[in-house]
Amino acid sequence: MKFFIDTANLDQIKEAQDLGVLDGVTTNPSLMAKEGITGQENILNHYKKICELVDGDVSAEVISTDFEGMVKEGEALAALHPQIVVKLPMIADGVKACKYFSDKGIKTNVTLVFSAGQALLAAKAGATYVSPFLGRLDDVSTDGLNLIDEIRMIYDNYGFQTEILAASIRHTMHVINCAKLGADVMTGPLSSIKGLLNHPLTDIGLAKFLEDYNKGN
Ligand code: E4P
Repeated sequence: MKFFIDTANLDQIKEAQDLGVLDGVTTNPSLMAKEGITGQENILNHYKKICELVDGDVSAEVISTDFEGMVKEGEALAALHPQIVVKLPMIADGVKACKYFSDKGIKTNVTLVFSAGQALLAAKAGATYVSPFLGRLDDVSTDGLNLIDEIRMIYDNYGFQTEILAASIRHTMHVINCAKLGADVMTGPLSSIKGLLNHPLTDIGLAKFLEDYNKGN
């Protein structure tokens, strides 16, 4: 399972990278705005900084909603750095743009996916990644994990190569349950990655080992 961090915060990206388990980064316009990164030039520069910090794929989202605009924006994003993955919304023009980019060998991430049918369309269009938003489904009393399960079954039935990028992860149990269901990738906040470290018995056990070692010194 690949671990992506879902943030535009450079310190958090660096912390996850330094832990040695980071495979990539996802961002979106809201995450950029949260870091105070606004304006096209600043946003493009920020993507470059992220790419320089990590080794893996970095999703950069288009804000156009028409095919021509998405193609123009996506091409500019892809030209920024070889690690950039063009992130496209799950709308008709987004699916068309996904097909366009996949035919050109440019990686894509189809985002804002909330149903198995949408995930099927993204795979048909050759998406590199599909991003089902499980936390946002949970927020509206719908089982987000069930969607991951459905997409896994459909992709396996037909051997689609599109990777399931479980998005809108909120906590460690989302990560663990997505791993059980066979999601290829998870993207979540730093807390959902670092939280996997925690167990009180580890802390108690380590304290005891150190205490016993020090008895002999
Ligand atoms: C995915 O690519 C999105 O950036 C993200 O996971 C959305 O998460 P949220 O629902 O916590 O905003």
